[in-house]
Amino acid sequence: MSLNTVHLIGIGGYLPDRILTNKDLEKMIDTTDDWIKERTGIEERHIIAEDQVTSDLAVAAAQQALDDAGVSIDDIDALVVATTTPDMIFPSTATVVQSKLGGKDFPAWDIQAVCSGFVYGLAQVDGMMRSGMFKRVLLIGAESMSRIVDWQDRGTCILFGDGAGAVVLETSDASQANGIIGSVLHADGSYRDLLKAEHVRRPAGPDARLLAADFSLDSAGAAAVEMKGNEVFRVAVTKLGSVVNEILAKYELTDSDIDWLVPHQANIRIIQATAKKLKMDMDRVALTVASHGNTSSASVPLALNELYRSGRLEKGQLILLEAFAGGFAWGANLLRWSK
Ligand code: UT7
Repeated sequence: MSLNTVHLIGIGGYLPDRILTNKDLEKMIDTTDDWIKERTGIEERHIIAEDQVTSDLAVAAAQQALDDAGVSIDDIDALVVATTTPDMIFPSTATVVQSKLGGKDFPAWDIQAVCSGFVYGLAQVDGMMRSGMFKRVLLIGAESMSRIVDWQDRGTCILFGDGAGAVVLETSDASQANGIIGSVLHADGSYRDLLKAEHVRRPAGPDARLLAADFSLDSAGAAAVEMKGNEVFRVAVTKLGSVVNEILAKYELTDSDIDWLVPHQANIRIIQATAKKLKMDMDRVALTVASHGNTSSASVPLALNELYRSGRLEKGQLILLEAFAGGFAWGANLLRWSK
C-alpha cells in the first residue's frame, strides 16, 4: 500500500474580544505587571464572552481556515477538536462544531491531551490520512481556560487565556515534496498530580456552561487548575529539550535544518530554553505568549497562524511544533511548509 503525504492547506485563528491585562489582574489579586512579565512573558490574554462557549471559538477559527484553504465544510471528511474545556461532558465539542458549521455525516471527535492536544491531534490525523482513511480533515484546538481557572489563585490565573486555532489538512500522493514529516508523542501519568483540574462541586466532569456560571471571572472560583508551577517548569524544560532532539534524530535532521520553532506558549522562559537547546535565535520562534498567554491546545495553531499571517513563512521551510501538558503529555511534529 502506498502512503500519502499530508499537507496543511488552510489555517485560521480566533481570539475573543475581551482583553484582560496584567494591570487588570493587579486589581483582582496580589500580583504585579512586572512580576508576570518577568516570570512568564505574558502581558495580556483574551477572555471568552459570557454568551460564548468553546465551540463558538472553534467555529470562528475553523471558518477562517476553510476560507484560507478555499474549501467548504462539505469538502471535509473528518473533524477533530482538541480541547480541555468542552462545551459539555457529551456530546463531543467536535460534533457541536460540525453542526454549527453546517456539516453532516462525516466523523467528528474530540481529543484530550490538554496543552499538547493539537500536537497529539496532528500526529493522530496525519497517521489516519497517510493510510488513506481521510482525504481532507479539519483539526482544531479550542479552549476557554478562563472558565476552569481559580481567579483567586495568583500562581495559575495569570497564565491562561482563551482562543482557538484551526488547520485544514489534505492528502496528496507521496511523490509530492513538503508536508508533514512525522511526530513523536510521550506521556507519563506518574506526574498527573502536578498539574490538574478537579471538580469539587460537580465530580462528573467538565461542562463549560456550568463552569461559566460557577467559576466566572467575577466569582470566587471553587474548583480549577491546580499546579506545582516550578516542578512543572523543571520537567517541561527537560522533556521538551529531549523531545526536540528525538524528533530530529528520528527523521535524520539536525537543529540547523529548522527554519521555525512553533512552541506551546506556556512561559517565555520555557520557550527560550528550548530555542537555546536548538541553537535558534528568538527571531526564528513564533511567539504569542505576550498577547495570548497560555491558550492550552489552541496555542500552537494560533502561533502558527500568526506566523503564517505575518508573511514570514516560505514554501519548503522546516517547522518544528512542540508542546508540554498536564499528564504529563508532550510531543512534537515536523512539517515542511507547502502553502
Ligand atoms: O501549559 C502546561 C505547562 N505549564 C507550564 O509549563 C507552567 C510552568 N510553570 C511556570 O511557568 C512557573 O512556574 C510560574 C510562572 C507558574 C511561576 O513562576 P516561578 O518562577 O516558578 O515562581 P514560584 O512558583 O517558584 O514562586 C516564586 C514566588 C513565590 O513567593 P515566595 O514563596 O518566594 O515568597 C510565589 O508566591 O512568586 C510568588 N508568586 C507570585 N508573585 C506575584 C507566584 N505567583 C505570583 C504572582 N504574582 N502572580
